[in-house]
Amino acid sequence: MAGINNAEFCKKQKASLIILGGFNADKEANEAGKKVIKRGRKEFVFEDPIEGIERELKEVKGRNFAVNVRSSTLEGYLEIARLVESYGGIIEINAHCRQPEFVSIRCGEWLLFKPEELLKIVRATSKIATTAVKIRGGHKLDYVLICKKLFESGCKIVHVDAMIPNGGCDLELIKKISNLGFVIGNNSFIDIASGESIIKAGAKMVSAARAVLKDEKFFEKMLKSEILSQPVSLE
Ligand SMILES: Cc1cc2nc3c(=O)[nH]c(=O)nc-3n(C[C@H](O)[C@H](O)[C@H](O)COP(=O)(O)O)c2cc1C
Repeated sequence: MAGINNAEFCKKQKASLIILGGFNADKEANEAGKKVIKRGRKEFVFEDPIEGIERELKEVKGRNFAVNVRSSTLEGYLEIARLVESYGGIIEINAHCRQPEFVSIRCGEWLLFKPEELLKIVRATSKIATTAVKIRGGHKLDYVLICKKLFESGCKIVHVDAMIPNGGCDLELIKKISNLGFVIGNNSFIDIASGESIIKAGAKMVSAARAVLKDEKFFEKMLKSEILSQPVSLE
């Protein structure tokens, strides 16, 4: 969660994988972040993005972590991939954000509609670091084809916000893409039953955002479920 998921916030969570960010990797994305803040949304804006992100990474030592990132340039993604790899983490390409300031500079869900651009980024970052891609459901897109190509291009994890436009989690979408590779299912994980249904649909892991804002012990409570506390491995 942009403006929320920094090291300080994430370290408190009893999650097996913490996902920092969204962070902005280059100048243009940082400027977009500033515009978003001006209209009242939270964002992380570092004076020097690389330096700021590195400061965060130093604080999550010993945890499994990913860094959710937006960049208007390939070089921005590559810089974060090198940085994240040097700290033993995962780079998560943000093909999810729908804030117009980011979409208009070719970030976030813009990439979902330009899969060739997304694949180009994934081919390059996956040569450097373990690469995940966060995607958004709910569009009229061939998600199976996109995810197939992502996995073929070196993506190791598809993290899907399986949103249904009027609310809820699209378990069918999770089912379809989980056949293709490692999927983290997301959306409306609010209790043990909703989390287990995402795992039963085929996701290897399930992630939560808003529920954690409501209850800082959310993950701890979810770990009471046998299904949700099973160990997972990327291999
Ligand atoms: C305040 C807030 C900020 C968010 N920022 C990001 C972000 O920077 N990158 C991203 O991939 N998703 C972001 N999301 C989306 C969430 O990670 C998640 O996909 C979405 O809220 C659905 O999951 P949930 O039902 O568990 O909240 C954000 C969500 C919220 C509520």
